Amino acid sequence: MSDILLDVRGLDIAFFGMAGQRSVRDVSLTIARGETVSIVGESGSGKSVSMRAIMGLLPDSAYVSGSAKFLGQELIGASTATLRSLTGSRIAMIFQDPLTALNPLLSIGDQISEAIRIHNRDVSRREARERALQLLRDVAIPFPEKRLDQYPHEFSGGMRQRVVIAIAIANKPDLIIADEPTTALDVTVQAEVLDLLRRLCRQNGTGLALITHDLGVVAGMAERVYVMYAGSIVEAALVDDIFERPAHPYTRGLLRSLPKMKDQAKRLEDIGGTPPTAASLPTGCAFHPRCSFATDVCRKETPRLNSYGRSIAACHLGGSLPAFEKEIETA
Ligand SMILES: Nc1ncnc2c1ncn2[C@@H]1O[C@H](COP(=O)(O)OP(=O)(O)OP(=O)(O)O)[C@@H](O)[C@H]1O
Ligand code: SF4
Ligand SMILES: [Mg+2]
Repeated sequence: MSDILLDVRGLDIAFFGMAGQRSVRDVSLTIARGETVSIVGESGSGKSVSMRAIMGLLPDSAYVSGSAKFLGQELIGASTATLRSLTGSRIAMIFQDPLTALNPLLSIGDQISEAIRIHNRDVSRREARERALQLLRDVAIPFPEKRLDQYPHEFSGGMRQRVVIAIAIANKPDLIIADEPTTALDVTVQAEVLDLLRRLCRQNGTGLALITHDLGVVAGMAERVYVMYAGSIVEAALVDDIFERPAHPYTRGLLRSLPKMKDQAKRLEDIGGTPPTAASLPTGCAFHPRCSFATDVCRKETPRLNSYGRSIAACHLGGSLPAFEKEIETA
């Protein structure tokens, strides 16, 4: 059996009315069984649309091409019935806002039971309720017997997201796609919820695609990282390499904007400027207007992904950038 759960190749996404400009360009990535992979980038970089495209969740105005295979099965262009049967059983999604994922009119117990029974018709109501209770225990909800009969509005944000995680893991999926799963929560709760998600995925051998705009979140969570900028992957690396020897100037900018780095380096500000949209994509390297290393070639030619050690990065100066520590010391 293949170890690759999700194999995305050359994913392109354009929206109607964008005069052919693509919001996502040539995205390729893989996620192996039991692996946690993070997709990081600023707002608008194409993280969510890429994952939604794979799951067939984009509106009709989106044109999607390329390939996304889940355990060898093509998802791009797959029928709604196929995608529906995979969603919730083999692939689960967790979104930023737990309230939109939960039905305000159904008790927590009924929602978890329904998620189980929709994919396993032979499970009785009683059995599903027992499993729901165990799932609430698994996600460390206090007084689970009592909580089972309560409604979403009786739960705090962090507790609601735990319920969403319980629903996501209910059918032991092979892959969970979590899109900014903790952004709506306060910082301490974020860490607890992420830790729980990681632990459950490791325990169950579930692959996890963690989408975040915060590189800080990635440190303790992921094994590999894809960095997206303006609709493309600009760097892909093992998590340690991302922090120790980032190969792309944009990744370096993201790292410098982390609070911890700021303290250490005593100066560093966020990356100046704003990311372009598909409609305002600059010529050459999309990052050049914000890049302190930009040269003439960067303004003219789009860099391709190349290997640098164990990482790949799309930068004309990839191999000849100063070492990252040196860049901080001298800045
Ligand atoms: N329905 C749509 N119609 C037109 N453009 C869209 C649509 N949905 C997304 N886009 C465009 O696709 C690009 C990528 O959006 P996406 O939501 O994937 O960003 P993101 O990386 O998830 O950002 P965030 O961190 O804010 O969630 C954006 O420029 C956005 O404007
Ligand atoms: S290609 Fe040029 S502009 Fe783009 S990131 Fe590399 S150095 Fe900066
Ligand atoms: Mg998003």
